[in-house]
Amino acid sequence: MLILLASSGLRAKDITLAIEVLESGNLTMGEMVQKFEQKMADYLGSKFFVMTNSGSSANLAIFEALLRPAKGNPKLKAGDGVLVPSIAWPTTIWPIIQLGLQPIFVDIDATTLGMDIEKAKIKIRESKIPIKAIFPIHALGRSLNDTSIEKLAKEFEIIYISDVCESLGSFQNKKHAGASALASSYSFYFSHHITTMEGGGVSTNSSDFADDLRSIRSHGWSRDRHDAPEWTNLKSRNDAKFLFVTSGYNIRPMEIQAAIGISQISDINDFLERRRNIANYINGKVNNSNLRLIGSDTLANIESIENNSWMLLPIQVLKDFKGERRDKILAHFEASGIETRPVLTGNFLDQPAMQRIYISSPNPRTFPISDQIAGSTFLIGAHHDLTDLQIEYIGTKIEELPSE
Ligand SMILES: Cc1ncc(COP(=O)(O)O)c(C=O)c1O
Repeated sequence: MLILLASSGLRAKDITLAIEVLESGNLTMGEMVQKFEQKMADYLGSKFFVMTNSGSSANLAIFEALLRPAKGNPKLKAGDGVLVPSIAWPTTIWPIIQLGLQPIFVDIDATTLGMDIEKAKIKIRESKIPIKAIFPIHALGRSLNDTSIEKLAKEFEIIYISDVCESLGSFQNKKHAGASALASSYSFYFSHHITTMEGGGVSTNSSDFADDLRSIRSHGWSRDRHDAPEWTNLKSRNDAKFLFVTSGYNIRPMEIQAAIGISQISDINDFLERRRNIANYINGKVNNSNLRLIGSDTLANIESIENNSWMLLPIQVLKDFKGERRDKILAHFEASGIETRPVLTGNFLDQPAMQRIYISSPNPRTFPISDQIAGSTFLIGAHHDLTDLQIEYIGTKIEELPSE
């Protein structure tokens, strides 16, 4: 049996809608995107949601908007430091470097797999570079404590923005992950909690920030902004239909992606429940094998103060001092057709590109928890398309593992 990390996530009804959009001839960004944005804002409880063609583009647009807003008063300037976790996705980090900001790495917390907030405070106090923003990742379906990050941001007068690309549907204390941030990014890449094939977006409660994101995703155009009339009324020699008010990219989504998103978001609660059931089942199996499902503490939370949306299942190998047991377990899973992968990219500071591109890259060995997690933990799939048979098969393969 083959258990892949990802599945397409598309159902027959999503495909039917997609075909209708293709046949309508309305292909580029329009009504469907607007509808999907409203549905996402409703789900997240945010005032605005701006869709992009990927989660990576959403991150890029956030930093562009912080650096070059249409109405002036940028919140960041080139050279400013941005706190990021040392276990990260590449496109959480690259926009920061590409746009002339400086990533300041903070080790992760072994329980949440996200940035260690206490260590972040120490970095702010000790850094020689002025730190002006914190950009944590809510990793693998687990929300960080938004309130404590918001408190830190207020205390040190820095901006809180967050990467929720792996954690749509996760919340803590009834707040969605990243709800307190000025802006949070999402990915709808296939096998995420909902999919639009490729796709992403940004939630924010700031009308001006949302307007800047709308311009930035579409060449810098004023067209889709709520405040477009204000710009049109300026005594400009340019045609109102061709006014450009920010710098920009073309990172727009297509109607077909939004149509699929509309169909998917209406079923998100079913997807999340399925993922939680898979995590529960696997947790019952790993407990007897000197393995630990990281995040299993959230399963015991019957009052749902914290909802883990289980992007993938992070399994830690215990009592494995030389890493030999983990290698044997990975070989056993792979030989059984169960695909595995590292936690995000492992310690990101070890990546060859990082060493070459960011010359002030710190020594990876000064991030001990990232090293410990990268060396002891691996991921298996938790996507909601897995059948009962597949899940039971994973359970059987876990039971076959030697406990030492
Ligand atoms: C933490 C994080 N940020 C950003 C992204 C980028 O999203 P996308 O693949 O939609 O570009 C991903 C990808 O899954 C991710 O895991």
